[in-house]
Amino acid sequence: MNTSILVVDDDRAIRENLARYLSSDYTTYIAANGQEAFQQLNDHSDIEIILSDMMMPEMDGLELLDKVQAEYKDTIVIFITGFSTIESAVDAMRKGAYDYLTKPIDLNKLEITIKNALENRNLKSENTMLKQQIRENSIATSIVGESAKIGEIMNLIKRVSSTKATVLVLGESGTGKELVANTIHYNSSVAEGPFVKVNCAALAEGVLESELFGHEKGAFTGALFMKKGRFELAHNGTLLLDEIGDLPATIQVKLLRFLQESEFERVGGTKTIKVDVRLISATNKDLEQLVKDGKFREDLFYRLNVVNIVVPPMRERKEDIPLIAEYHLRKFCEIHNKRIRAISAGAMDMIMDYHWPGNIRELMNCIESAVVMTIEDEITVDSLPPFLSISHSKSAVPPQNLFEIEKQAILDALDVTRGNKPKAAKELGIGLRTLYRKLDQYGMKDF
Ligand SMILES: Nc1ncnc2c1ncn2[C@@H]1O[C@H](COP(=O)(O)OP(=O)(O)OP(=O)(O)O)[C@@H](O)[C@H]1O
Ligand SMILES: [Mg+2]
Repeated sequence: MNTSILVVDDDRAIRENLARYLSSDYTTYIAANGQEAFQQLNDHSDIEIILSDMMMPEMDGLELLDKVQAEYKDTIVIFITGFSTIESAVDAMRKGAYDYLTKPIDLNKLEITIKNALENRNLKSENTMLKQQIRENSIATSIVGESAKIGEIMNLIKRVSSTKATVLVLGESGTGKELVANTIHYNSSVAEGPFVKVNCAALAEGVLESELFGHEKGAFTGALFMKKGRFELAHNGTLLLDEIGDLPATIQVKLLRFLQESEFERVGGTKTIKVDVRLISATNKDLEQLVKDGKFREDLFYRLNVVNIVVPPMRERKEDIPLIAEYHLRKFCEIHNKRIRAISAGAMDMIMDYHWPGNIRELMNCIESAVVMTIEDEITVDSLPPFLSISHSKSAVPPQNLFEIEKQAILDALDVTRGNKPKAAKELGIGLRTLYRKLDQYGMKDF
């Protein structure tokens, strides 16, 4: 997408000529005064740069700058000044304007100033992204659990952390794959280095390639500057490729080459770049099946799968549920400023009985909502979401007669749809009213 520039000047010839000149590289808008400028900012959220005259009737440049900083703080402001207003232009820079140009405007200088401003902003956002990742990553590195399965995973993490081996983390959604990756990084020799994450499923193919490997200036329309990719940003650290099962075929080839040679080229570039990066990838997809189906390269699979950590679903380590539930209870009490002592035995039974298809993330959400809803000092059955009680009331004994089979089918449908009756009725192939009648008949009116 093109960068958009707003040209503000009360001299019509100046604003129109400047806008015309810039329109070959940028999308341009014009305004004759401060008021029009704000109208344009309001109408076009894509405006990234304001090129504005200093001396204008009603609202002068400094006032405009003040207002822009209050309402559109990410917008870059560059001033155009006559000889008489240089002093206020310098003042404006002190207040946060990016730069100023003197009239008559040297068009070459104008272009360079705009490009530098954009590059400067990109570097800043790169920096903010890295800092934010550091903050996020330092939060969650504690794996709670005492089951034999978690013990095995902790052992594996300890062993791989001291090496630079490529790790593939597998497991259902919400089981803690990212947490495992975090723990490996922060226990490794590159813990002080960058930890960069990419969600391969969240970006379109074209964007993903330049996001991972970077691009050279002019690599495609809109590539005004060289941009480093996440592989370069992760140099001397760890790169987590999340949702690796969604990696498009073209990028699989490029990743394979990186794993073989530790080098790549930026998109549109010829220079070979070498980086030292520990790679962790994660997915909830069955990668082996994807290989069989021809959707994931077998050679890449083997390269990624040097060490393999499979995080088991919640239902296979039920003994960890109380610890994890209590850990999140304490955490959410702190976040929401609540004093809740415990989870009642009845509520815990219900939590233990549920099959948690969304694993720890689902359990966490359930605890958070219970913490918010509870007014007592204990989480009871009543503060848990209703879909838990549906699965709890299901009998462990197989149904004996038609009556029980029907009742079980209804409970199953309500369980799968989390108590959504219209959906459950659809699932069962009956009308909503029939469902209500049957619930009534089976004494399950409250569901
Ligand atoms: N053993 C654990 N103890 C406490 N909290 C955990 C544990 N495992 C995971 N969590 C928490 O559960 C949430 C989900 O974990 P995470 O994001 O690592 O899962 P994931 O497997 O990457 O999920 P997805 O496949 O949906 O991306 C996180 O907030 C994480 O901190
Ligand atoms: Mg994840």
